[in-house]
Amino acid sequence: MERFEGRTYLITGAARGIGAATARRLAAEGAAIALADLDCKGLKDLQQELGDRKTPVLARVLDTRKSEHIEGFVAEIEHTLGPLWGAVPCAGIARAQPAEFMRDDDWTAVIDVNLTGVFYVCRAVGRVMLTHGRGAIVNIASITSLGGQPGRANYAASKWGLVGLTKTLATEWGRRGLRVNAVAPNGVDTPMIRDGIPEDFLNHVMLDRTPLGRLAQAHEIAAAAAFLLSDDAAYVNGAVLEVDGGLTAGFLTHRHGADFAMKSGSANSGENA
Ligand SMILES: NC(=O)c1ccc[n+]([C@@H]2O[C@H](COP(=O)([O-])OP(=O)(O)OC[C@H]3O[C@@H](n4cnc5c(N)ncnc54)[C@H](O)[C@@H]3O)[C@@H](O)[C@H]2O)c1
Repeated sequence: MERFEGRTYLITGAARGIGAATARRLAAEGAAIALADLDCKGLKDLQQELGDRKTPVLARVLDTRKSEHIEGFVAEIEHTLGPLWGAVPCAGIARAQPAEFMRDDDWTAVIDVNLTGVFYVCRAVGRVMLTHGRGAIVNIASITSLGGQPGRANYAASKWGLVGLTKTLATEWGRRGLRVNAVAPNGVDTPMIRDGIPEDFLNHVMLDRTPLGRLAQAHEIAAAAAFLLSDDAAYVNGAVLEVDGGLTAGFLTHRHGADFAMKSGSANSGENA
């Protein structure tokens, strides 16, 4: 028995990146999939790909900042694909600027998509899943939900807010059968990071400080999201699962040495321990 057979899930930001990988993963495990994104071409391609593999699939070009569009799509999903079992709101954007130069619209655009739009999706699917008495949502947080990052005042604020949203919904809806969790990825090899992060920063800061020494692939984030959606995570609620290659496991790691903070010959050195 596939983990998601007979179940329907909504993925936003599904045209590419983590959203597309999550849709593929859930479909591969038997789910029916509803896809939403602003990108018509990307959606159509994925709809075709999943349809070719016999996955029941519905796709809609929509802006997650428009709550009435999400509500309408959720109603259509329930009517066409069957009752929703969960959602992964992946639509997100980044607009990096030093805080003192950040324009009003750089701030509001990121908060609107990454926080308000995710709330609209959670609320819309939550309303219907509460009537079913079960369901699961996985939000896509970030390592920037756990600390700050220069140039990312808007992004960090949105991702910290997302954790507050996740934990609050987990407490509101847990007793009524809905679990709400989040994954917090480090850098994932998607257009967002390839287009938005300078190579230097990627290589000399991000990868340098990541114990696994590489970016995540989108399917690795999808695997974690699938776990949290599944019955394997039946007692996991309100959690933020770091999927970060060990980045946040410790602060004092560095590819080019000095990881072992011991003086040679000291009683505490690895040699003598
Ligand atoms: N890539 C990373 O390194 C990384 C790390 C941590 C967290 N995340 C988060 O994961 C999520 C997905 O990121 P990704 O790397 O796959 O990004 P991506 O840019 O590859 O894909 C994002 C998708 O969201 C869609 N989208 C953007 N605004 C939308 C809107 N208003 N309505 C509908 N669709 C919209 C885009 O069209 C795009 O298809 C985001 O929330 C991002 O913040 C990404």
